[in-house]
Amino acid sequence: MKSILKGFGAALSVALPLLMQASAAAAATSSAFDPALVQRGAYLAKAGDCAACHTAPKGKPFAGGLPMNTPMGQIYTTNITPDSQTGIGGYTEQDFARAMREGVAKDGHNLYPAMPYPSYAKVNDDDMKALYAYFMSGVAPVQQANREADIAWPMNMRWPLKLWNMVFLEKGVYQNKPGKDVAWNRGAYLIQGLGHCGSCHTPRGIAFQEKALDESGSAFLTGSLLDGWFATNLTGEHNVGLGRWNDQDLQAFLKTGANRHATAFGSMTSVINNSTQALNDTDIAAMTTYLKSLPPAGGNGAPPYTYDPQATKVSLNRPANDAGARVYTAYCMHCHGVDGRGFAPMLAPLAGNPNVLEKDASSLINVTLNGTEDLVIGGIPAPYPMPKYAPVLTDQQIADVLTFVRAGWNNGAPAVTAADVTKLRKSTQAAR
Ligand code: HEC
Ligand code: HEC
Ligand code: HEC
Repeated sequence: MKSILKGFGAALSVALPLLMQASAAAAATSSAFDPALVQRGAYLAKAGDCAACHTAPKGKPFAGGLPMNTPMGQIYTTNITPDSQTGIGGYTEQDFARAMREGVAKDGHNLYPAMPYPSYAKVNDDDMKALYAYFMSGVAPVQQANREADIAWPMNMRWPLKLWNMVFLEKGVYQNKPGKDVAWNRGAYLIQGLGHCGSCHTPRGIAFQEKALDESGSAFLTGSLLDGWFATNLTGEHNVGLGRWNDQDLQAFLKTGANRHATAFGSMTSVINNSTQALNDTDIAAMTTYLKSLPPAGGNGAPPYTYDPQATKVSLNRPANDAGARVYTAYCMHCHGVDGRGFAPMLAPLAGNPNVLEKDASSLINVTLNGTEDLVIGGIPAPYPMPKYAPVLTDQQIADVLTFVRAGWNNGAPAVTAADVTKLRKSTQAAR
């Protein structure tokens, strides 16, 4: 008996390593994805801007940990590297697709819609497969535990998200719209889906849901305030939207973050840095075709902007009479110009700039207080980024200079109050 057991043990000690080797080999084959598929997945991960949220500043790629503000409190992005303990190494392709499209993690808990799954729901099966291949074998596994959200009971309960999904999640991948050409449909697919442009640019309703997920809703991409930045109206509206931009303007903006009308700043900087500059010309052109097809919406019905330097020249010649002109000549004019036209493309014009004409002045106040993260194109940071004036100028001075800018050069936009600046100074300080 003893010897039989011994023999069995001996047999096991020979067989077990062999068995383990065999299963390791099986695992290796199943994780050996086609390199072309992995490469396509890497491109799609750029289109989806996964790094903007899942890579924390100075953090390892895709290991998560970036704090995000939600109406309920702060949450942290998660580790989506293929580490099997702390990342998504244990996810099957089905698990991954469910997280991306339905906002449900492998263990069944619902994700907060800060993860833009209502947009990613439109990603088709081929692209989902490529993304999965990339995250399983193109990304280095990093062991880094996820951080719990700073949301107190009862708001931290995740089950109400199931109800939220029942009401607001539109299931079903993007379907080509008949009567529209290939470029339009490709652009719509990228803008509504992986690009999740609406998560910032579409106004949200009372339950934090985007009011429209495609062009069939009139609120789609009409501009919205999120986290202290007003994401511009992207419809054809001629003052606050893209109505005065031609195709080349829009393509240049998405490729390089700047054109003759505007320069990227605030939360758009990271979109240009991590996502759109990496897209190929065909996809950039497709996104442009789609955006330029959106009929004008929003705005205040004023006639299209026309440049007029006259009135502004008068106050700039006698700045002593105008508190805003005084601040402008001392602090802003050497970059943005007497004529308000800056030195495009790298120094943003303020005359006729859609962000300056927009009723909501949050972005202007925020960029003047806090400057902006460097725009980095092809690895090269912008040479003269907008400085931060929070330590230099009072709330009243910032209100004065922005009121001057909003009235100047025929901009005709409403004044900014010191109280508006105080509010944003407080909330952006808290976020730091
Ligand atoms: C705007 C920010 C944002 C972007 C962009 C984003 N995510 Fe997320 N993602 C999150 C947040 C936040 C969570 C965690 C939500 C929670 O804990 O409820 C998350 C969770 C996930 C999860 C679930 C894993 C887990 O354990 O929580 C997966 C998978 C995922 N994201 C994949 C992706 C991929 C792939 C992309 C790019 C195509 C992407 N995400 C882009 C914010 C983002
Ligand atoms: C994280 C939030 C966020 C996301 C996602 C986002 N944007 Fe923006 N976007 C902004 C903000 C804020 C501004 C205003 C600042 C500026 O002009 O750069 C802006 C400005 C723009 C402008 C310039 C408008 C102007 O008149 O100056 C364009 C064009 C644009 N976004 C296109 C897009 C497209 C296309 C996508 C999707 C691929 C996208 N954005 C995704 C936040 C975002
Ligand atoms: C060193 C040059 C410099 C100075 C000085 C400067 N800016 Fe800027 N400003 C920029 C640049 C560059 C941008 C574009 C965003 C970026 O890339 O940083 C910008 C962007 C802006 C914008 C957003 C417009 C857009 O669409 O990009 C506003 C508003 C603005 N500046 C206002 C001011 C005001 C007000 C002052 C003076 C208190 C000022 N700037 C001083 C360089 C400067």
